[in-house]
Amino acid sequence: MQIKKFDSVEALTEAVAKTIINAVKKKPDLVLGLSTGSSPIGVYKAMVKDHIENGTSYKQVTTFNLDEYVGLAPMDSNSYRHFMNEHLFDHIDILKSQTHVPLGIGNLEENCQKYEEKINSAGGIQLQLLGIGTNGHIAFNEPGASFDALTHIENLTEDTIFSNRKFFENEEQVPRQAITMGIKSILNCEKILLVAYGANKAKVVKGMVEGPVTTSLPASILQKHGNTSLFLDQESASML
Ligand code: GLP
Repeated sequence: MQIKKFDSVEALTEAVAKTIINAVKKKPDLVLGLSTGSSPIGVYKAMVKDHIENGTSYKQVTTFNLDEYVGLAPMDSNSYRHFMNEHLFDHIDILKSQTHVPLGIGNLEENCQKYEEKINSAGGIQLQLLGIGTNGHIAFNEPGASFDALTHIENLTEDTIFSNRKFFENEEQVPRQAITMGIKSILNCEKILLVAYGANKAKVVKGMVEGPVTTSLPASILQKHGNTSLFLDQESASML
């Protein structure tokens, strides 16, 4: 794992955005993996700013998001599809038909299978943006999730439901399940950029980097991925 530390969250998000923008410039038909949560919001803001000011084009880019809540239709204002449109897709020149977010309604088993097929037929994900949950989850792979899983349905832990309530009116509204790319799907990505900032991520960052590789802390498996960069601020890196 390559560790990059920054003095401010702004510098960190700028650096992540720059890495993505440079990858798109180098390979205009990049297959890009994207994430949700609060961590990537600044990255998306910087990408939109760059698109407006410098004209970086996403017309040939294909994207795959990590996950979606079960039971929320794409047009639901709390869905991750809605989040992506609002924070990124509506503000750049990407073709919506080339953006993919797992579907959390309908035949879920079929949705999981089809999502993996789509990733495969795009040739795999070349660059994947990741965050980390305070319990060590990546995408929605909660502690205990198999390292061998592809896209599947996951029951969310109390910890995740509590953390993600900030996006809902109250905790009761947070869905209890999600459709998520599995750990194996994530390990198949060529290059991974993981963003973690704030003191509440310090303990889990230490576990991810220095602890044993264990399903109890799903992100620890990234120690075995050959091309992962961690973008940390002073606070999230404080226990390293
Ligand atoms: C959610 C997402 C993850 C994300 C995590 C961290 O549960 N499924 O992909 O990494 O939250 O969220 P935040 O960035 O808000 O701390």
